[in-house]
Amino acid sequence: MKVLITGSKGQLGKELLKNIPHDIEVIPSDRKTFNLLDLNNCREFIFDNKPDWIINAAAYTAVDLAEDEEEKAILVNSEAPIEIAKALKKTGGKLLHISTDFVFDGESSSPYKIDHEPNPINIYGKSKLLGENGIKNVFQNNDQYIILRTSWVMGSEGNNFAKTILKLLKTKEKISVVYDQIGCMTSSKYLSIICWLIIQKDITKNVNNQKIFHWTDSGVSSWFDIATEIGELSFKLNLLKKPAKVVPISSENFPTKAKRPNFSLLDCSSTKELLKIENNNWRCSLLEILQELKSKNFLM
Ligand SMILES: NC(=O)c1ccc[n+]([C@@H]2O[C@H](COP(=O)([O-])OP(=O)(O)OC[C@H]3O[C@@H](n4cnc5c(N)ncnc54)[C@H](OP(=O)(O)O)[C@@H]3O)[C@@H](O)[C@H]2O)c1
Repeated sequence: MKVLITGSKGQLGKELLKNIPHDIEVIPSDRKTFNLLDLNNCREFIFDNKPDWIINAAAYTAVDLAEDEEEKAILVNSEAPIEIAKALKKTGGKLLHISTDFVFDGESSSPYKIDHEPNPINIYGKSKLLGENGIKNVFQNNDQYIILRTSWVMGSEGNNFAKTILKLLKTKEKISVVYDQIGCMTSSKYLSIICWLIIQKDITKNVNNQKIFHWTDSGVSSWFDIATEIGELSFKLNLLKKPAKVVPISSENFPTKAKRPNFSLLDCSSTKELLKIENNNWRCSLLEILQELKSKNFLM
């Protein structure tokens, strides 16, 4: 089976490459070979290579910058995935498209189920929702696609919250982190494993004809909780001798260009049931990530 990975130099893309199952031939791509800003190039690349699956891990992920670059965010996160879907519809290949908790408004008080009505509150979320809807429209409920939503992705590869916090804990005396945005982190390693399982088990053939799935680690936390845990673990692991003090701050006192949902926990039960797999607790994932960063001498 031939699988094209877009965004293979991003944090999920790199993990996908590290965890390729033995029976799969991968075509890695980046913005040089498969630029989502160039729809003709995307189409031609798919017609030339005829992959059995595409994992669309590429995205415009700069949440704050997207507020100023709406057109570009929509091109990359919506128009390009729609073009990919149209090309695959012709070649017969399948699409695993990665989406986000930011399609929701954060007003819920219980984990978002797969059929909860999306209502994004920033441009990034809007662009990702347009992508989801466009893909659904192209495939019209046939068995050629899966949309996998995830949240707060971090790992030892690429840029992410864990690595940013670790650097700040090393260089500052005190850091302020928001306590009133609640969700769950997702280990990019386990997310990549779920992507491969989806393809290997081909869950497009599931009896309920379900197309949207959710995947995160298990548990609940705020960004403050994660930063605090990183501080404690990095001390225990001897990554840091004297990590900065982490203090809680409200979102109101930490303004960002893009609004973030206050609550974005995703209900992953249907994915767990279908794939017969349990998700890793976020604290265990964080420990693994920090151990890996230590082995790579990340802070040296
Ligand atoms: N990170 C999170 O917290 C998070 C949360 C929820 C959902 N997601 C979703 O998860 C997926 C993977 O995200 P990630 O964390 O791996 O993001 P990432 O580390 O920012 O990687 C995104 C990749 O997309 C590539 N890309 C951007 N514009 C492109 C273009 N025009 N043409 C080709 N490639 C382009 C980037 O290339 P360059 O490196 O060259 O820029 C990068 O390799 C995305 O769909 C994202 O929306 C992420």
